Amino acid sequence: MSAARFGRRRLLLSVGGAALLAGAGWATNWLVAYNRHELSNAGTLDFTRRLKIPPLLDPSPSGDGSKRYDLTLAPGRTELLPGKKTDTWGANGSYLAPTLRARRGDKVTMNVRNNLPEPTTLHWHGMHLPASTDGGPHQTINAGATWRPRWTVRQPASTLWYHPHPHGSTGSHVYRGVAGMIILDDEESDRNGLPSAYGIDDIPLVIQDKNFHDDGSLDFSETSLSDDIAAVDNMGVLGDTILVNGTYDPYFEVTTRRVRLRLLNGSNARIYQLGFPGDRSFHLVATDNGVLKRPQALTRLRLAPGERAEIVVEFKPGEEAVLHSFKPDLGIGFPDRRFVGGDDTFDIIALRAAATLKDSPPLPTQIAGAPAAIEVPGSAKKRKFTFVGIQINGKTMDMNRVDEVVAAGATEIWEIERGDGWLHAFHLHGATFNVLEVNGREPPAHMRGPKDTAFLPVTGTIKLAVRFDTLTDDKTPYMYHCHVLRHEDQGMMGQFLVVEPGEEGNVSTTLTGGSASHHAHGPQEEESPR
Ligand code: C2O
Ligand code: CU
Ligand code: CU
Repeated sequence: MSAARFGRRRLLLSVGGAALLAGAGWATNWLVAYNRHELSNAGTLDFTRRLKIPPLLDPSPSGDGSKRYDLTLAPGRTELLPGKKTDTWGANGSYLAPTLRARRGDKVTMNVRNNLPEPTTLHWHGMHLPASTDGGPHQTINAGATWRPRWTVRQPASTLWYHPHPHGSTGSHVYRGVAGMIILDDEESDRNGLPSAYGIDDIPLVIQDKNFHDDGSLDFSETSLSDDIAAVDNMGVLGDTILVNGTYDPYFEVTTRRVRLRLLNGSNARIYQLGFPGDRSFHLVATDNGVLKRPQALTRLRLAPGERAEIVVEFKPGEEAVLHSFKPDLGIGFPDRRFVGGDDTFDIIALRAAATLKDSPPLPTQIAGAPAAIEVPGSAKKRKFTFVGIQINGKTMDMNRVDEVVAAGATEIWEIERGDGWLHAFHLHGATFNVLEVNGREPPAHMRGPKDTAFLPVTGTIKLAVRFDTLTDDKTPYMYHCHVLRHEDQGMMGQFLVVEPGEEGNVSTTLTGGSASHHAHGPQEEESPR
């Protein structure tokens, strides 16, 4: 998009309401578009297709004592809609990817073969690992090449995920279907009393929205508005069709009194407001990077792209509960909220309880293994990031520019400010944060756990306590960015190095040659962490 066009879009967004007063033809178009932009699948589903559960990938022992996970990315054709074939991409299958399961302390090797027709990368979202193994935009895997990063799992039990991250094409690679879940276990999670039988009472739910053409092919178009009124439609793809684990119209048969749902918003742009009709309550037990100290009773849960949440839902024999997405709480009013999905509602999946249910252990009152709240020393360094349009602090992503340099092991305050009406979700690689404040107030319950991704309030600020890991690399950066994938692809991303304390001022903030143009040609090994 040209700068002029970009500027015009922003301008129109800010005067969205006044736009009604413009020319009559334009206003008619606008009204048509406005009406067309309220999406809902209510009443269109019968919940007749059994939820697909992504298979768990069995690792193979590898010579060096690590567990080796073999992943092959390839194109394929998938029946996503009944009776239609869709060209898709996947890992070890034609759509989505297997669930990877590992334990704290495990040495893992990811053996990633790229059989896609173009270069990609594979990023381990939420993982604490050496920057060279992170799978961000610098770790390109060319078509036909294999990438073999290794690291040691050194973080608490949590639900992470993995997806491509090639600069400029993350949105299309994820939309085509490359995404999978990662489940990390540890000693506490073995005995924390939460449902944990994968696919039985511990269920991965990868929630995605898509648009399809009539022939079943994926519709990549980023707006259904005529060009004249595309002003406020800046999110990229907002689909009218919901898939859960690649299943259209899904149901899951509940066989136990309590079920843990591991929710992942794997959508490019859509923000969901999950809950059940009738305000049935459920318990939040974990956020992005680990479990909460105590289960939190909730009736609604907002999930921005890239965020995860684990909830426990209780069932009575024979009942059905439909997980629903209500109009999301975006903090945006008429008319703009309509164009960013703010008026959309969806049925997600029917959870159908069998006539008799196996007993489940009671929900624990304290969850073992909850990471301690991040303590912020008085001397903590503060950094401020302003998100406006597709820029962070007035800049777009430059693969050769290091934006921030952080001392290994540091705890810092990061303030993320949203300076306009666009929707953004802040994500940081290789570190965990706690949200301290949302617009100066205590964050809502669902934002209080250990996190790596957070929704930004409209023209407001979130204040984060970020704890950086101790792994250092003075040449390979980690990323922070907006997880609305169109924004990320257009450059709403910055890079930071983590270096030995005291070395912050001594490293080059220009990445020449080496890192920025470092591509994996053919099989290659990465160093394992210290
Ligand atoms: Cu889920 Cu930098 O990404
Ligand atoms: Cu990430
Ligand atoms: Cu954004």
